[in-house]
Amino acid sequence: MSTQVFEWPKTKTGDSAAVPSMTREFVCDVRLGLAKPRKELHSKYLYDELGSSLFEAITHLPEYGLTRADERLLRRHASDIARLIPARAAVIELGSGVGKKTRHLLQAIGAAPHQGPLRYYPIDVSADALARCERDLSDIADVHPLVQSYLDGMARATAEREAGEALLVLFLGSTIGNFERPCAVEFLRDLRRALLPGDALLIGADLVKEPERMLVAYDDPTGVTGAFNLNLLGRINRELGGDFQLRDFEHQARWNEEHRRIEMHLRSRLNQTAFIAEADLSVTFRADETIWTESSHKFQLQELDAMAEQTGFRVEGQWVDRDWPFAENLWTIS
Ligand code: AVJ
Repeated sequence: MSTQVFEWPKTKTGDSAAVPSMTREFVCDVRLGLAKPRKELHSKYLYDELGSSLFEAITHLPEYGLTRADERLLRRHASDIARLIPARAAVIELGSGVGKKTRHLLQAIGAAPHQGPLRYYPIDVSADALARCERDLSDIADVHPLVQSYLDGMARATAEREAGEALLVLFLGSTIGNFERPCAVEFLRDLRRALLPGDALLIGADLVKEPERMLVAYDDPTGVTGAFNLNLLGRINRELGGDFQLRDFEHQARWNEEHRRIEMHLRSRLNQTAFIAEADLSVTFRADETIWTESSHKFQLQELDAMAEQTGFRVEGQWVDRDWPFAENLWTIS
């Protein structure tokens, strides 16, 4: 099978001191984020190999119902969704991870009278997750993994559109919730611009529910989410020569009522200084000071419909899970 893996860690050739561009970007983001008066680190850096495995473990936690709700909806409504999209379609998935929950949907779409095998373009920052994705789904689709950012991957995949073929973009698991609301709208507009009339977007969004239920999903008693969060400092130690003492930081989850989002923070237990060799940077922390590492925005159903309208999509279908309020939204372009 010919697989196209576009690695973003490209090393400049001919320069023995070259630093891979991804490392350079990581260094820059760490410098900027830790220099802010309210320290922050971008949540995309949570997903190195260990971080992706820890997230995968999170999806099995009894307290974290999000992924199971997403999976249930996709399983129950796969054929409804397949019926609502054009028969000849290729599938692109943003942030596929291992692509486990996509199987039923790909099966339903592939079962429609289709010319040739279904093409599936999973896009993710984790090459390991994509390798598993390809291995696990190649029996039902022609898998073309793309190790790229979402919009770069989109550009690659849309360039391979065949005449008369529609594209279905999957953005599952409420990853849209990681964007600040105005950025989510901007991102959806960018996505819309990369698509054509007849194309569709299936977007999963976690809904607002009781704060206690949301909080325990992001602060599980097993400590897996804590490990997932702390691993970001571990990753800085490993990749950027940092000397963070992980035991001197503590995982924190907060419900921000005003912005309707769960925030993850890493709280410094004491006054301390960390040094990051690759960035030649010393960072001091006061006791109780935090690094903000992730936001998971939660949505209301009407809000999702309004977002579709604001960004140039038409609402074609919406399915909601009863046990864990979560919505699958099928938006089309007319
Ligand atoms: C994969 C981004 C949807 O925000 O719920 C899980 C990541 N963070 N527990 C989410 C996550 C903490 C997750 N997303």
